[in-house]
Amino acid sequence: MRKLKIGVVGAGSIASKRHLPEYAENKNVEIVAVCDINEQRAKEIGVKFGAAKIFSDYHDLLKEDLDAVSVCTPNYLHAPVSIAALEAGKHVLCEKPMATSEEEADQMISAAEKSGKTLMIGHNQRLVESHQQAKNWLKEGKFGKVYSFRTAFGHPGPEAWSADGAESWFFKKEEAFIGAMGDLGVHKTDLLRYILGEEMVEVAAMVETSAKDHADVDDNAVLILKTESGIIGTLAASWAYKGKEDNSTVIYTEKGVLRLEDDEKHSVIFHKHDGTREELSLGQIQSNEEGGQVSTGVIDHFVDSILTGKAPLITGEEGKKSLLVILGALKSEETKQIVKL
Ligand SMILES: NC(=O)c1ccc[n+]([C@@H]2O[C@H](COP(=O)([O-])OP(=O)(O)OC[C@H]3O[C@@H](n4cnc5c(N)ncnc54)[C@H](O)[C@@H]3O)[C@@H](O)[C@H]2O)c1
Repeated sequence: MRKLKIGVVGAGSIASKRHLPEYAENKNVEIVAVCDINEQRAKEIGVKFGAAKIFSDYHDLLKEDLDAVSVCTPNYLHAPVSIAALEAGKHVLCEKPMATSEEEADQMISAAEKSGKTLMIGHNQRLVESHQQAKNWLKEGKFGKVYSFRTAFGHPGPEAWSADGAESWFFKKEEAFIGAMGDLGVHKTDLLRYILGEEMVEVAAMVETSAKDHADVDDNAVLILKTESGIIGTLAASWAYKGKEDNSTVIYTEKGVLRLEDDEKHSVIFHKHDGTREELSLGQIQSNEEGGQVSTGVIDHFVDSILTGKAPLITGEEGKKSLLVILGALKSEETKQIVKL
């Protein structure tokens, strides 16, 4: 079978720690091209992963004979690069948050429809084993009625992660459009929608910049959410959690409390209403602290969906719905009102 030819736009941390290593492990692809406006970085990373072609302008990369492109750029470029790639006939895996507005997300979805190519969004939290387990159990009705949830994704911030450190685009509104809520919060709006199998219908939010004097985006946000069946809960997204990352989700149900990624040893703990507990130690969730050792499964899933022609788990529509919750939270902070989604 012919290998899929891959190009990667943006050669920063997510590309070098996740996308490229995971493409390199996948037998059905060949890494052909890498692009970054920082040409030196593009060269170093490109050579490391065996890319024959190096570019500093993504338009040039898109002229190449490629089957698929990963979009690993700052957020404001997700829509323009993805749309140009789809129009050039490439399948696209775009990082999250999918876009900076509903209009951009719609344009990406429509470009994918017109080209007949796959558009997938990099919401890797869906593929984490504990989250898959929770989704399956909830679907089977193991927990009875779901009453509430709380989820958090917080760490000290992207300084130690981004290729440009404290000078990173992550802190600049023009390039990021949103801070911790778009970096971390959108992962959890996507995860909650996926695990609960329901859409969010209302959001109220308080959004602050508490810890980063140099940032002109949010770094500390708390959302109150309500789903279509009336489940209420909270979501926290923060770059102000010093010391240890929090990437946990707790679901409160009729039959007990389900804790996901809330314990160093057991990725799943179910405290039953009779006082007993069930524990599972599944593959650990990927975190900034651990670097790139653990595969996210995102690349394999993207490649499989191209090869089988099946829609990926995280389509453009899914990415858009998860983004809309975050946009609603921004509106709630601005208007000091509960926002209907
Ligand atoms: N799925 C996840 O868990 C996850 C984790 C981290 C980051 N991300 C997302 O990945 C994307 C990239 O983040 P990162 O952490 O790699 O950031 P980063 O700062 O480490 O890297 C971004 C790279 O993009 C390059 N770039 C900027 N403009 C460009 C252009 N016009 N053309 C080509 N390259 C350009 C920069 O030079 C830099 O090398 C963001 O959208 C971010 O939200 C996702």
